Amino acid sequence: MNEQILQLFDEASEGYVSGAEISRRLNVSRTAIWKHIEELRAEGYEFEASPRKGYRLISKPAKWQLSELLNGMRTKVLGHKVHIYDEVDSTQTIAHQLVASGAPEGTIVLAEKQNAGRGRMGRKWHSPAGKGIWMSLILTPRIPVYFMPQLTLLSAVALCRSIQKVCQVEIGIKWPNDLLIHGKKVSGILLESSGEDERLKYVIAGIGISVNLLDEDYPEELKHIATSLAIESGALVSRERIVQAFLFEFEELYALYLEKGFAPIRLLWEALSVTLKRPIRTNTPTGVIEGIADSLDDSGALTVITPSGEHLKIYSGDIEL
Ligand code: BTN
Repeated sequence: MNEQILQLFDEASEGYVSGAEISRRLNVSRTAIWKHIEELRAEGYEFEASPRKGYRLISKPAKWQLSELLNGMRTKVLGHKVHIYDEVDSTQTIAHQLVASGAPEGTIVLAEKQNAGRGRMGRKWHSPAGKGIWMSLILTPRIPVYFMPQLTLLSAVALCRSIQKVCQVEIGIKWPNDLLIHGKKVSGILLESSGEDERLKYVIAGIGISVNLLDEDYPEELKHIATSLAIESGALVSRERIVQAFLFEFEELYALYLEKGFAPIRLLWEALSVTLKRPIRTNTPTGVIEGIADSLDDSGALTVITPSGEHLKIYSGDIEL
């Protein structure tokens, strides 16, 4: 039915299609039409409603442009195999299935929309249609499982650098891997892995970047804590350019990491951090820790100095700034 409604808008020479006309042509009630228009809005179609003239389709959701994406790809391996979906539960799930059927390192999965986008710590990730980068990247590093947190920090550095190169925004990393602009979250990273004999078999790096969401695209509970590149830069941003820039940065840092270890990545992370040298607070299974975030250790854990001068380490979880 949604397809048929869209076709009526394609055919409408004046732009407007009245509710009465849709109802007559498709033989459905006015209430049903309203429901379908709301569904289309949730998919990223924008309609103007005029009491006298009816509805006018103002814009369609953006679609991934595969040829544009591949033409501007400057990587050697990453992003040369691309799987694009209109709608998935989670790109992570698809990427796990692709690995099982032999997909090579560097394969990426992109979706216009996720119905069950996964965030860290069991949270949901808001992924409306055509507005963001909802991407999973397949990696097969032969490193010990306990190095995973380092890869997460590396991903945050790559993401931060790529966004800085494409948009004029002041972006920084909140430990471990949230990207913030003016204190609001614009991007998040979720690494999922499978290991064997303490070595990683594969890692799926899930990258969520809120690119072109506008205020009205956020549910009430996210409005004061989340933002997008478009909101912060004042202009729509090309998703293809960000993916190209991210994969390029990631590939360089990944090669550096596999050759020289975590030390150079740690320095880059520290330079981009908005957490270090600031008071933080976190809930751990053994109680609340408060203090000044001091540095990263070799494993990627955050060292915090408490008011009594104790040095404590935080290995996982969330911090409040
Ligand atoms: C976070 O909680 O900060 C991590 C969010 C990660 C979201 C991305 S979107 C693409 C990939 N697919 C998912 O279901 N989650 C990740």
